[in-house]
Amino acid sequence: MPITWHEPTRQLHLHNGRLSLVLAVLENDWLGQLHVGAPLDPQATYRHLGPAEFLGFTNRVDEPVGLAVPTAGSGDFRIPALVVEQPDGSAVLDMAYAGHRIVTGKPDLEGLPSTYVEDPSEAATVEIDLADPVAGLEVTLVVTIFEDRPVIARSMRLRNAGTGRLIVRTAMSASVDLPDGPWDLLGFSGAWGRERHPHRAALLPGRRAVGSLRGATGHEHDPSLFLLRPETDETRGEGFALSLVYSGNFLAEADVGSRSTTRIRMGIHPDGFAWTLEPGATFTTPEAVLAWSGDGIGALSAALHAFYRERLARGVWRDRLRPILLNSWEGVYFDFDHARLLDMARASADLGVELFVLDDGWFGERDHDRTSLGDWVVDRRKLPDGLAPLAADVEALGMSFGLWIEPEMVSVQSRLFAEHPEWAIGIPGRERTESRHQLVMDLSRPEVVDHLEVAIGDVLSSAAISYVKWDMNRNITEPFGASLPADRHGEFFHRYMLGTYELWRRLTTRFPDVLFESCASGGGRFDPGMLAFAPQAWTSDDTDAIERLSIQWGASHVYPLSSIGAHVSAVPNHQVGRVTPLATRAAVAFFGVFGYELDPRTLGDTERAEIRGHIAFYREHREIFQRGRFIRLRSPLGGDDAAWMVVAEDRMTAIVAHYRILRRPVAPPDRLRLRDLDPGTVYRVSAWPGPTPAASVRRGGDLLMAVGLGLVPEDPATGVPDGDFAARLYVLSAD
Ligand code: DGJ
Repeated sequence: MPITWHEPTRQLHLHNGRLSLVLAVLENDWLGQLHVGAPLDPQATYRHLGPAEFLGFTNRVDEPVGLAVPTAGSGDFRIPALVVEQPDGSAVLDMAYAGHRIVTGKPDLEGLPSTYVEDPSEAATVEIDLADPVAGLEVTLVVTIFEDRPVIARSMRLRNAGTGRLIVRTAMSASVDLPDGPWDLLGFSGAWGRERHPHRAALLPGRRAVGSLRGATGHEHDPSLFLLRPETDETRGEGFALSLVYSGNFLAEADVGSRSTTRIRMGIHPDGFAWTLEPGATFTTPEAVLAWSGDGIGALSAALHAFYRERLARGVWRDRLRPILLNSWEGVYFDFDHARLLDMARASADLGVELFVLDDGWFGERDHDRTSLGDWVVDRRKLPDGLAPLAADVEALGMSFGLWIEPEMVSVQSRLFAEHPEWAIGIPGRERTESRHQLVMDLSRPEVVDHLEVAIGDVLSSAAISYVKWDMNRNITEPFGASLPADRHGEFFHRYMLGTYELWRRLTTRFPDVLFESCASGGGRFDPGMLAFAPQAWTSDDTDAIERLSIQWGASHVYPLSSIGAHVSAVPNHQVGRVTPLATRAAVAFFGVFGYELDPRTLGDTERAEIRGHIAFYREHREIFQRGRFIRLRSPLGGDDAAWMVVAEDRMTAIVAHYRILRRPVAPPDRLRLRDLDPGTVYRVSAWPGPTPAASVRRGGDLLMAVGLGLVPEDPATGVPDGDFAARLYVLSAD
């Protein structure tokens, strides 16, 4: 059992040879955190890493004691993990150790997505009870350590054990105390169309926070933070990754204290949050995941990728290779009918596409984005015979059929809004703010979830639908749960998320064979919480290959390639107007769940032939693209080129991609050092596109890693320099 309790020192050690978390009950019965990070000997005791004696902060204000569940107001002036207002209005807590249980496996979190085990032997969990009888509060800290993964998962359960009403103001999923500095913070931030660009900066005394108050994780910040030593790079050095399995308002914050200690906290954003706990009631926080590595950022990403792909994603599609899709959106937007779609489908099948997806515009009278959300019935003007014959026609072409939905939204111009205006979020007597001409349904109300389960369920069972793109195109304004009592609106945002998760749970359970992809105007709700229901996400509405380099590079820090939706679109690109070669667009989209986002009827013969080749190439290597180990080599941010690679688990195959962003004259010879190959293996290296495999070379893994792969800076056939936006892949296979 990788959790050890040492009674004489009251020490709890979670260990698996990959990382250690050492907790201890301090003299005042608070739960101390003595160490987190590098694996330590499970036989030893580490009480000396904490305060020699700790009797509370009474006379020693500001002492840098590491605590597992820090609270405010009794001498620790750093950011708290738990703030609970009591009947007398005070919020000081004295959470004393009251016992613990160690169990094999990992219990589920009630109503919330979480990581899981398939067999209890994969993990061990400790539930540590803390109690404050004066406040009438009991807290159970739940921490799981996984066999052979450098990760732990943590959440808290709160219970009102008293007789008065408690109000939870802050309940963080994670709180981590690090005893020394300096640290850099690496986060993933941006906006619509340029999501998840990495930003790294040294932590300075004081706080640095990212978060969301939009009701969704948002385009602005990913709910993940990496904490790195200044010298840590992709392959070397110590670092932590913290990531929240949640899709709503969140806060991820670092606080460097006066003694250079660093505290990180992550959880539901406390701003505007207030959860009432009546006597006997409980509250469970979302789960936070922490990974540690001494081998650089790449190892942190590898740990998260494997963990999220294997033990966060669920259902039959977790392990299935994902189909190559063509999505109708950028091809025809709202302008289609059955015949037109069928023509598109025919042209798609001819290219080798496996899944034809009908995006927005098939329901109500939706010829534009000002109408019909909520009216989930087929628009008979466009599809006179409904969805079933269209799906059947698509299937007859040898493809499967997929459909777009946006269940959480309602248009003011819709039958649903006319019948149930009270189901749209808003404050009676105040004007509702519209965004994209739509309002958000109040999923904090159980009857709204029930209605959507039936409405969307009817659609999904009305035809052979094997894929669903679940979109969400605006954030919440005028937050207000009309069914909540006046003093409980601080619960609204979280209740919205609980309702949304419940809808996801019901629909994914009822349609277990459907492949779900989450979307929120691209990457506006791409987070670990959604990954628990939908194993892939539409990464960004920006489909330009060059923009996508930065977006996918950033996303790859946290998310596996099997979750990163990436499509080839037409040029000039619809978001930035850039013209890039078709091969480059494919070479970027290969590194994700591959597909197309264009009207295949508009392609010329040469392009069609080229695309057939691209699809054949992806099919041949799909396994390694979707399941291989992804390695970042050269960042596209700020440079003239970029490179990354994927390696098969047995290291006998790898695909390296080099992208030239801007071509410069008189470039020096360029060698790209590869990683994670087998040094003793000789690889046959062939370039794609062209020259033919006959022209491939043989290179040792040792050489490719130590000296590098010589990049081909011009077309080998013509000798013409590869210009701006060129891409070349190198396929390595053990010879
Ligand atoms: C936003 C999505 O990100 C797009 O791909 C597309 O589905 C539109 N919504 C449709 O309204």
